[in-house]
Amino acid sequence: MTPRHLMSPLDFSIEELDRLLDMAADIEKNPDKYAHLCEGKRIATMFYEPSTRTRLSFEAAMMNLGGKVLGFHSADSSSAAKGESVSDTMRVVSCYADIAAMRHPKEGAPLVASLRSLIPVINAGDGGHQHPTQTLTDLLTIKALKGHFDGLVIGLCGDLKFGRTVHSLIEALSRYNDIRFVLISPEELRVPSYVRESLRAKNIPFEEVVRLDEETMADLDILYMTRVQKERFFNEEDYVRMKDFYILDKAKMDVAPDKMMILHPLPRVNEISVEIDDDPRAQYFAQAQYGVYVRMALILTLLGIEVA
Ligand code: CP
Repeated sequence: MTPRHLMSPLDFSIEELDRLLDMAADIEKNPDKYAHLCEGKRIATMFYEPSTRTRLSFEAAMMNLGGKVLGFHSADSSSAAKGESVSDTMRVVSCYADIAAMRHPKEGAPLVASLRSLIPVINAGDGGHQHPTQTLTDLLTIKALKGHFDGLVIGLCGDLKFGRTVHSLIEALSRYNDIRFVLISPEELRVPSYVRESLRAKNIPFEEVVRLDEETMADLDILYMTRVQKERFFNEEDYVRMKDFYILDKAKMDVAPDKMMILHPLPRVNEISVEIDDDPRAQYFAQAQYGVYVRMALILTLLGIEVA
């Protein structure tokens, strides 16, 4: 049977996505029901780039389902260091595991790997392109804490050029009704033109602003902060100039609306001050927890395991 992969957040229809998010919500409430569903199954985490949340939450997800994990956490610790292609590596890992999550610095690498794979491959982040499982995490967090997607005003702030989580989230939220985006970035870190063109083609309202101030925040239901992606800059000087462009601190939160939930895919660097971590609107650590539930639901879905 041809395995089903996850490369983009749009690989699932809205109906499939609803089922997956409902399953993740049920996993949060009834973890025991799911504790043995993957006994005898293995996930391979193939990480050619650093990660804390994505890799460990995939591993935690499989362990919570009763399965096992294997993998590598850097290109240097795999035979990529000897020149092996992602296709060959994936074909071989297909012999050792039932499902794989791959992160790679090159855009499209997980897709290339999936073409030779005998098992489902999940894109766990490819360069500055997409990060679909972060998007599933973000959607579950929004659904759990806001209760709906339709009608939301979403601010995305920071490195909108290289931030793959932003590209994936915009694409996913664009499928809902009456969504409006406020894109907050320095001129040099605006969203790529293909994202802008896609929003225009779908008649989705958006504005691009530079300042993160009271006026910008006034209508926001969600403020999605992102770090400046140091690893994607061509020179250190540009990164240093940009890295502290936005700092969300208590003074800013004091003038932000009560409804404005703060999300961040993490890791944060300086863009959110630790002084707001206990603000009830700050939900980025809850978001990281939701990532485990949604990855459990994803593993079950791609492996075709029925939940009684
Ligand atoms: N959000 C996210 O992708 O974090 P990691 O890079 O730690 O996996």
